[in-house]
Amino acid sequence: MKNQLEKISSDASSLIESIQNKAELDAAKVKFLGKKGELTSVLKQMGKLSAEERPVIGQMANEVRNYIEKMISDAETKIKAAEMKKKLEKETLDITMPGTPRKIGHKHPLSIVLDEVKDIFLGMGFDIASGPEVEWDYYNFEALNMAPDHPARDTQDTFYITEKMLLRTQTSPVQIRVMEKQKPPVRIISPGRVYRSDAVDATHSPLFHQIEGLVVDKNITMGDLKGTLEMFAKKLYGENTKIRLRPHHFPFTEPSCEIDVSCFRCGGQGCPMCKGEGFIEILGGGMVHPKVLATCGIDPEIYSGFAFGLGLERLVMFKFNIDDMRLLYDNDVRFLEQF
Ligand code: DAH
Repeated sequence: MKNQLEKISSDASSLIESIQNKAELDAAKVKFLGKKGELTSVLKQMGKLSAEERPVIGQMANEVRNYIEKMISDAETKIKAAEMKKKLEKETLDITMPGTPRKIGHKHPLSIVLDEVKDIFLGMGFDIASGPEVEWDYYNFEALNMAPDHPARDTQDTFYITEKMLLRTQTSPVQIRVMEKQKPPVRIISPGRVYRSDAVDATHSPLFHQIEGLVVDKNITMGDLKGTLEMFAKKLYGENTKIRLRPHHFPFTEPSCEIDVSCFRCGGQGCPMCKGEGFIEILGGGMVHPKVLATCGIDPEIYSGFAFGLGLERLVMFKFNIDDMRLLYDNDVRFLEQF
């Protein structure tokens, strides 16, 4: 039996040394150590041995088993390492190959100017407020002093969801929403989308953007409106910009005005851009109507305020000399890349 064990040991040793892959190794495991393997069949004959021989052979059998197990596990490690090496060689990346360049976009001209406008007003201590685009008739018209039969509604025809719910025609309803919640001092701007039932042409779109402004506090005057907007115009269009107020009418301000800025192309001389005027209209504004303040629970005897509304598309078109509003919505990359 001793000879048998020695033979198993040396057979195993030479076989396992030559093994190249996992399948052969598994076969060797079964051959030497399996239930029907060579070592087991030797052990099965142990019963025939004398009491003195048994422990000696038993110990030897154990040593042979340990020896074979160790050889197998070493071979396994070797095979795994070889397989991993092969896999890595197959999967190598050529990091010197040029990649696919990814185009990084940039801000839309509307966003460029809107961000600038926001920065200017934030710098003057304004907060940014927002309101819904689907709005109640009450906020869009009625609370702004435009009763159901008010003629000013005709210039702001829009898309109705129900008789009392519509797509807002202006950002002015945010004034009401803010004043309902916040008592003076109030100092906000509110940019956003507005809608009107207008046919598309070079200067009209059923969807466009406005920026609303509202300041309410004690002792607010038309002088504050003028100073604030002059500062705004200088920051947006340059130090030499002048503003001009012309009387106008809005139902929710009294008095009301339209505000022009000196043409930044010709500086006021008159050119094709300002159509020879020297000035360009950029916004409407005025002192918040006492009825509007009262509707929001603010006492017009104690508080006063000014408000204004800017058309963002107009600002952008003048700033970048764009003559057709549709270009801003076509999303033609050849156009957008220029800003
Ligand atoms: N909401 C007006 C419009 O769309 C613009 C406007 C005028 C807003 C005067 C104001 C304002 O806040 O005071 O034509």
